[in-house]
Amino acid sequence: MIARADALVHLPATLDFAAGATLPCAGVTAWNALVGQGQMLAGQTVLTLGTGGVSIFALQFAKAHGARVIITSSSDEKLARARELGADEGINYKTTPDWERRVFELTQKTGADQIIELGGAGTLQKSLDAVRYGGRISLIGVLTGFEGLVNPWPVIARSVTLQGIYVGSRVQFEQMNRAIVQNGIQPVLDRTFAFEDAPAAFEHMAAGAHFGKIVVSGS
Ligand SMILES: NC(=O)c1ccc[n+]([C@@H]2O[C@H](COP(=O)([O-])OP(=O)(O)OC[C@H]3O[C@@H](n4cnc5c(N)ncnc54)[C@H](OP(=O)(O)O)[C@@H]3O)[C@@H](O)[C@H]2O)c1
Repeated sequence: MIARADALVHLPATLDFAAGATLPCAGVTAWNALVGQGQMLAGQTVLTLGTGGVSIFALQFAKAHGARVIITSSSDEKLARARELGADEGINYKTTPDWERRVFELTQKTGADQIIELGGAGTLQKSLDAVRYGGRISLIGVLTGFEGLVNPWPVIARSVTLQGIYVGSRVQFEQMNRAIVQNGIQPVLDRTFAFEDAPAAFEHMAAGAHFGKIVVSGS
């Protein structure tokens, strides 16, 4: 394809094309939230929701910056895999529906410094109850949908920074790629499907059985 040179970035030397294909949306979004806008510091506690593409990148980038990571999932098996990737704490949001309380317990009743908010209307109130005073919530996803009531009072009372994230910039993409190479980060590929099997890839995603990214390969 022909594209403007400033619309492209180099594939990190440590990644193949399948791994590189996971970066432009999920990777850059997690990077922008935590590092670009989030200005993450070592020692912070990051809470990230679920074990999909964005959340697993957030886990990897937060650990590379020396943060403590709490991750949620509907599956204990997936939480165990997240721990293998460095997650410090895992909470099953099915068996612990009031996971925001657990986050408070795990942070000595202060709350998380940064939250990767992927659930949308169904989880935002809980995230507002799980964030620390002066903390930051990156609004990224709407896995539970758009509709719902949210009480904005905790945003005020806790001086929360509530920031919308829509992917990120090319400069951030290049910064992220350098960090990926320096830290030996490999995107987590759940499964790779042949192009002819793309419908099965979408079914796999819809089933929510994946951990990290799903790749549809062109060759
Ligand atoms: N703003 C942006 O620029 C941007 C960029 C990329 C993606 N997004 C959005 O961000 C969201 C996540 O994207 P993704 O690519 O990471 O999706 P994904 O790979 O499909 O992640 C789905 C995972 O989210 C978890 N999940 C589902 N419902 C949940 C709930 N109620 N509470 C907590 N976790 C829940 C599940 O994890 P478990 O199986 O572990 O339970 C599920 O496997 C989507 O809404 C997507 O549209 C936004």
